[in-house]
Amino acid sequence: MTTDNRFELQEPGAIAALDAAVDRLGDSLSLPASTRPAIDDAARDALLAAAERLQDNYPYAHPLYAGQMLKPPHPVARLAYQLAQYVNPNNHALDGGRASSAMEKEAVAEIAAMFGFETHLGHLTSGGTVANLEALWVSREETGGRRVVASAESHYTHSRLSAVLGVPFTACPTDHTGRMSLDALEALLDSTDDIGTVVATAGTTSAGSVDRVDAILALCRPRDIRVHVDAAYGGYFTLASTLGDDARRAYDAIAHADSVAIDPHKHGLQPYGCGCILFPDPAVGRHYQHDSPYTYFSSDDLHLGEISLECSRAGAAAVALWTTQRLLPLERGRTFAGMLEQCIAAARDLAARVEADEGFTLLQAPELDIIVWGVNSSSFSESSRLAQAIFDEAAQRDLHLALIDVAPERLPAGLSAMTADRDTLTCLRSCLMKAEHRDWIDDITARLTVSRDAAVARDAA
Ligand SMILES: Cc1ncc(COP(=O)(O)O)c(C=O)c1O
Repeated sequence: MTTDNRFELQEPGAIAALDAAVDRLGDSLSLPASTRPAIDDAARDALLAAAERLQDNYPYAHPLYAGQMLKPPHPVARLAYQLAQYVNPNNHALDGGRASSAMEKEAVAEIAAMFGFETHLGHLTSGGTVANLEALWVSREETGGRRVVASAESHYTHSRLSAVLGVPFTACPTDHTGRMSLDALEALLDSTDDIGTVVATAGTTSAGSVDRVDAILALCRPRDIRVHVDAAYGGYFTLASTLGDDARRAYDAIAHADSVAIDPHKHGLQPYGCGCILFPDPAVGRHYQHDSPYTYFSSDDLHLGEISLECSRAGAAAVALWTTQRLLPLERGRTFAGMLEQCIAAARDLAARVEADEGFTLLQAPELDIIVWGVNSSSFSESSRLAQAIFDEAAQRDLHLALIDVAPERLPAGLSAMTADRDTLTCLRSCLMKAEHRDWIDDITARLTVSRDAAVARDAA
């Protein structure tokens, strides 16, 4: 970053608040000095060496980082995580993390309430992949190993997870908006009776498209097919009051799905290592039954390890999430929901600027906070080369975007009219996942335009 873009890392008041919290925790924990080795010069040097290594990164927290699906944790989540490290609880069992297990149950119950679940069984996971694995595993147990169907734009791990579980997998085509094609799904469901589970994605990784969960449920329920919603990226948008009508209906229908995965470490302001799986039917807990001769002696209450696939899990992740939700409740009309609305507004704003630019064509109107656009040119290869060049030029101007290869059938007329001399078209992609992006769209657009002009000039030279 150039000097004028530098920003202070440590938030005002952060260290004082952490000190006060560590003092408060210390009231209950008196440890012998031998368990607290001094941070001597060697330890300090090691830490400084780590800081030096960490300089080799993109500036993810800066609003000009508008590339991949990355979002900084809220400072209070980071501080709560660090606070919990003085205990380092393991949320596998109450034996290893009594307070943090209770905090996990409370935080997860709030997420379940956000989706409108009246009852639930759920817990945190290390991320979205493991949350989806648990959903597909429970589905396999419930359906006798019948086939999993997810859209061609669902997260790539669904086919891999199905293979791990030994369950057949079919990718269902998408429509021109990147949502699962309802016609294609219906035809698939009519063609065979070996489908046990349909995965609906509430916010695709590529373009933020929201599968029609309501319509998918309407097709699956009469056929006794389970519906899992992968809301790893998009789940929290259910709190936004500015969704389009289709997306609103899809989010409201999640309450009737069989399971939902959501990642607090994507839009929930958490450090990595925090996914969540939820089932509205607590009876699926029977699939998790196992015998552990070592744990579960400290209480008759259900331990989280008795309802999760993973054994050890970071209690600190639960503490960070609980603390964040205490500060920013998961309720419509409140601050956290407002942050998500800012992200949607930023994406709509940037999409309008891109659409107004004769050199670019928008892939589709954004449903959430991801936008994808192509560079107008004569052929796929020329356009893809320019997209790569703009990506590079933008990075030189401290604007960090992402790239995506898009299949021809997904392209709007403006882009599909180019000579298709390659299998896919490389487009520009931007995830506007930080509320602050809203105030940076003028700057982002200006840098994008200059970068495009530089790329075109370089190309002509
Ligand atoms: C829709 C969706 N599902 C699942 C995942 C995988 O989640 P994780 O990377 O936390 O394992 C992602 C990650 O981007 C995603 O966007």
